[in-house]
Amino acid sequence: MREVATAFAPASVGNVAVGFDVLGHSFQAIGDRVTARRTADRSVCISTIKGVSSDLPTEPERNTAGMAVLSMIRDLELDFGVELEIEKGIPLGSGLGGSAASAVAAVVAVNALLERPLDKLRLLKFAMRGEAVASGTVHVDNIAPSLYGGLVLTVGIDNPNVKQIPVPEGIRCVLVHPHMMLPTRQAREILKPAIALSDVIWQSANLAGFLTGCFTNDLQLIRESLEDVIIEPQRKVLIPGFQAVKDGAMGNGALGCSISGAGPTVFAWCEAPDADRIRAAMVAAFKAHGLDSDAWISTLEPIGAHVVE
Ligand code: HSE
Repeated sequence: MREVATAFAPASVGNVAVGFDVLGHSFQAIGDRVTARRTADRSVCISTIKGVSSDLPTEPERNTAGMAVLSMIRDLELDFGVELEIEKGIPLGSGLGGSAASAVAAVVAVNALLERPLDKLRLLKFAMRGEAVASGTVHVDNIAPSLYGGLVLTVGIDNPNVKQIPVPEGIRCVLVHPHMMLPTRQAREILKPAIALSDVIWQSANLAGFLTGCFTNDLQLIRESLEDVIIEPQRKVLIPGFQAVKDGAMGNGALGCSISGAGPTVFAWCEAPDADRIRAAMVAAFKAHGLDSDAWISTLEPIGAHVVE
């Protein structure tokens, strides 16, 4: 049996504009790595947190990776404990699913230490318990794509049905992360508890249209549907320059542009030849509002978390 394993879990774009808390896609260009090492007592010890954000709690109960692994040790009645080394590639409070990626990488690494490894659905449930520590609520739109890879729809919380959705070839995702932090809790607290029926109908049509466009390679339908009429209008005030960034993306041919997860990162879907131009326009728009940013372009391949060492 293995004594040590390291796993990588990709960042993710939660909501993908039209599926608040239920739809997300992985983003391979960045992610977190977690090394899990067997220890003698049945506890979790977080020995190192390094990388782009190291200012995170090391008490297992307050750390997404720690809590996910604690749940595994308790529920599976493992006869060993785990030391975790966390290497953050995803900035804190960025809307890129960093807390989810750490939890996912941790459960995938620990899974490699088990005599009988678990399937992804069971790992998902442990990672969800970790994610709850960070955001205060259970939502799966970062956990599921980080674990499974690609564009992922999750139906149900207690017994989640996880479905990977095909993405038309040639689509790219542009991600622009302005250098500011936006806590998920804050971005959730400002949401109104009630919304107009007409908006629910519009958003339902957009979600259905977007998924149908993905299944049928209909880029025109994706272009018409990839619009968030419920959450984005409430949250965009939290992101300086958001409208200019979106206008920059759409004006350069993006299929859609919205907030990644709870923000402040903004994503755009586009066809491959347009990606560089769209990225430049989005970065310039943030700059014009006083914000430097990091930007990446990625394909949407269905590659989820995996053991790397
Ligand atoms: N779906 C969640 C939200 C993602 O938008 O609040 C948070 O990472």
